[in-house]
Amino acid sequence: MALSALLFDAYGTLLDIHASVARHQARLGADAAAISTLWRQKQLEYTWTLSLAGDYRPFDILTAEALDFALAQHGVTDAALRGDLLEAYRRLDPFPDVAPVLEILKARGLRLGILSNGTGAMLREAFASAGLINQLDPLLSVERLRFYKPDPRVYAMAVEQLGLPASGIGFVSSNAWDAMGAARFGFRVFWLRRQDGPLEYDLLRRTTPIASLTEIASNLP
Ligand code: LAC
Repeated sequence: MALSALLFDAYGTLLDIHASVARHQARLGADAAAISTLWRQKQLEYTWTLSLAGDYRPFDILTAEALDFALAQHGVTDAALRGDLLEAYRRLDPFPDVAPVLEILKARGLRLGILSNGTGAMLREAFASAGLINQLDPLLSVERLRFYKPDPRVYAMAVEQLGLPASGIGFVSSNAWDAMGAARFGFRVFWLRRQDGPLEYDLLRRTTPIASLTEIASNLP
């Protein structure tokens, strides 16, 4: 079946999650990359553990708490730097392939949107600042549901909101756990492998792996 819409994961897929630390790298010193990686790991861990516990706290709060953990782990106590990192996280850089590919896909008649763990306010601010807000509709957030991907009810919400069958929706994510969840749900998934890494979740069989967003157009059914 031809696809009518493509939904993108936001953080790590369209937005460079390491751009915040990169902007303040000099102030973080040699641990900068390790802090950025731990920040992301903790942020995701909090989403999963809270969802399993039947609890919910918004993604911006979890992002701040994860940063606090990462900074504390590396002995960073600079409160101004913490504030600047969080500020930068609200306006992460999009990857360079995003704007041109969205234009090409839109010209092919596809509806393009976001399905993200981020709050609605985070998504609006990030994509407005990236100059992409007019290309993306809807910006779907888990906020209303109060649990996180990869809970299948999140992908189901997208089906309901778009009014399309799951088989008519493509989903693009660079996050293996998210690609797995979306494929399990029934979306046609493009697993974006910006870097080569170990294979997970049998994703080569369950998704269409792509090395950059530009490969989507040539892999559309
Ligand atoms: C997103 C993050 C978690 O859902 O990648 O946008």
